[in-house]
Amino acid sequence: MVPVAVRALQVLLPDLQVESAEAGWGCFQRCGQSVPDLTLQRMRACGAGLFGAVSSPSHPVTGYRSAILTLRQTLGLNVNLRPVRSWSGVSPRDDVDLLILRENSEGLYSGREQMLSAGHAMAERHITAAASEALAQRAVEVAKLRGAKRLTLVHKANVLPLTCGLFRDRCRAVLNAAGLADRVDERLVDVAALQLVAEPQHFDLLLTTNLFGDILSDLACHWSGGLGLAPSLNWGQGIALAEPVHGSAPDIAGTGRANPLAAVLSAALLLRYHWALPTLADRLEAAVDQVLSRHAGEDLGTATLIQLEQSLLQQLNHPLPD
Ligand code: IPM
Ligand code: MN
Repeated sequence: MVPVAVRALQVLLPDLQVESAEAGWGCFQRCGQSVPDLTLQRMRACGAGLFGAVSSPSHPVTGYRSAILTLRQTLGLNVNLRPVRSWSGVSPRDDVDLLILRENSEGLYSGREQMLSAGHAMAERHITAAASEALAQRAVEVAKLRGAKRLTLVHKANVLPLTCGLFRDRCRAVLNAAGLADRVDERLVDVAALQLVAEPQHFDLLLTTNLFGDILSDLACHWSGGLGLAPSLNWGQGIALAEPVHGSAPDIAGTGRANPLAAVLSAALLLRYHWALPTLADRLEAAVDQVLSRHAGEDLGTATLIQLEQSLLQQLNHPLPD
């Protein structure tokens, strides 16, 4: 799927230089690291990357840590952008256009868990003013680009007043200082989940902590058409890693069937946000929309990768009149 996304980018940016680098469980088995140093070096040198879904072991393995979590942490990719929008012909609704900004560096993803005794396990949830403010700063930028009318802070400060309270207060301070106070509201995470199901069209930008963002972004992507159409951008200062939210689907490996559109839409996020090339991002997303309307009513899971790539590249090279 990543080569398809790369070829789409190369149509739009003919001079784009591309390098590849390894990561994942297979890589760990060969070289003892899920993200080798060379991969980190290449990511830093390029300043932008496309992550292909990788597998993880289903049992704890000494020394192994998830490749994507390692990349996020080591490269300072502290914000995760997860847009959800309606697409022609495939989405269950036609009026959804929201974007979840997920804190990407801390919260319950601290990686600090321990057994206190045989029957008592503990995980640490860290929330800092710095990370919360950094998320809100990105929200200010994204709100300007989107012309966002509503920014919703999602938390659980009724039960976690210190951690979630800090998150909410620091986000609010940044948004207020940017003159956005009248557009900001807040929801407890459980209420937000219900409303994302019942009235997703009323949301615009959502800001939330790491685990809440992980869960709510999977829930919300139902409205675009599911995980097969869920892109994301892990975004730091001067560096970004585009990541389709789905996994590696080992059950269909080798069948030739695969849907590259989440990878392609993730590449569009690199264009729009990291490289500030919104016109090219619009073109790529419009091409995806055309491909989807052509395949309307079909289960994309039954199309082959080659068919979908051909359809997409045809659209990009010769857009059909509307
Ligand atoms: C995601 C994934 C990851 C996460 C996993 C694979 C560690 O679910 O990108 O949403 O939980 O962040
Ligand atoms: Mn997830």
